[in-house]
Amino acid sequence: MAKTDFLVVEFKWIILLFLFVEVSGRNRYKKYIEPSFVQEPNNITVYKGQTAVLKCTVENLGPKTVVWRRMSPNIFLTIGEKMYAEIEEMSVDVTRLPKYDRVQTDLIIKHAQPSHSGLYECQISSTKIYNYIVQLNVLDTRPVFEPALTINGTVYVSKYSNINLTCNATGSLRAPEDIDWFHNGLKIRQNDPQWRHRTYIYKYQQEVPGRSLVSILTVERSEERDAGTYICRSSDKDTQSITVHVLNADKGVQKREHGSELGPKSNHQASRNSSPSSHVLDFVLYLATIAFVIVNR
Ligand SMILES: *[C@@H]1O[C@H](CO)[C@@H](O)[C@H](O)[C@H]1NC(C)=O
Ligand SMILES: *[C@@H]1O[C@H](CO)[C@@H](O)[C@H](O)[C@H]1NC(C)=O
Ligand SMILES: *[C@@H]1O[C@H](CO)[C@@H](O)[C@H](O)[C@H]1NC(C)=O
Ligand SMILES: *[C@@H]1O[C@H](CO)[C@@H](O)[C@H](O)[C@H]1NC(C)=O
Repeated sequence: MAKTDFLVVEFKWIILLFLFVEVSGRNRYKKYIEPSFVQEPNNITVYKGQTAVLKCTVENLGPKTVVWRRMSPNIFLTIGEKMYAEIEEMSVDVTRLPKYDRVQTDLIIKHAQPSHSGLYECQISSTKIYNYIVQLNVLDTRPVFEPALTINGTVYVSKYSNINLTCNATGSLRAPEDIDWFHNGLKIRQNDPQWRHRTYIYKYQQEVPGRSLVSILTVERSEERDAGTYICRSSDKDTQSITVHVLNADKGVQKREHGSELGPKSNHQASRNSSPSSHVLDFVLYLATIAFVIVNR
């Protein structure tokens, strides 16, 4: 490192120290920060009998408390962590996230009934009125659907390319808990030697409140032994199968996908020319400057 570089680094440390002293000194007589609501879903729809969760998250609550109130009829429901009204099916759940200075106050309504529908207000107790309104809709009848399970994907695949199967399991009331995959009668476990490091199972639930659970099975660099019957089984005990053929077409012109395994690693080396510690210092300095500006606003 050249001498001038060294001086620049030293100078940065001095600025940093100065900013630190400034910021930490100011905390002793911290400016008052107004509480504010964090955006949460404010139009909740559930079916009769389900549990409704009305969320209210406040930042910078300070010493104040959060109050839930039903707007019509006007009933105070909760204060802080306590129920104010004795309503059997309602409870309150408070989670504090000190790291972000957040307090999340959930109003939980078990076995929701259409009579619970309406507007609910989350308030911050203070002279000024801060409020956040949530609409709850409890639907009387839930539509009745037929359960279904479909499997889809690559039936013919050439050797070394990917097998990609999609299983869509739909329950009549709610999505199945889980989906399992089987190959020629054996459950596919991702750490089995046959599947390890090249088999991925990705699951997601569709809409909310979803009735479908979708599972995507991807087997990379397929081999002849991967051919056969794949079964998708939902936890509702519904099953479907699909037969996959691995074609070993022309051994001479196989496109082996070795590159994809090594690819991401080789990118790393190129980007390490300037001193990493100087980057860290620049970044810390940048953050400290932002903190300084915010505190002084
Ligand atoms: C709230 O959701 C219900 C049911 O999905 C819908 O009918 C209603 O229009 C929504 N209200 C608002 C204000 O978005
Ligand atoms: C699933 O198969 C049907 C026909 O059987 C096809 O129309 C549809 O596009 C396929 N979906 C996916 C995700 O492959
Ligand atoms: C597998 O199929 C799904 C759904 O068709 C698609 O979203 C995904 O990108 C595919 N993955 C691969 C590795 O081909
Ligand atoms: C899964 O099946 C359900 C019911 O048949 C359908 O509504 C939904 O769109 C399907 N999802 C996908 C990703 O194919």
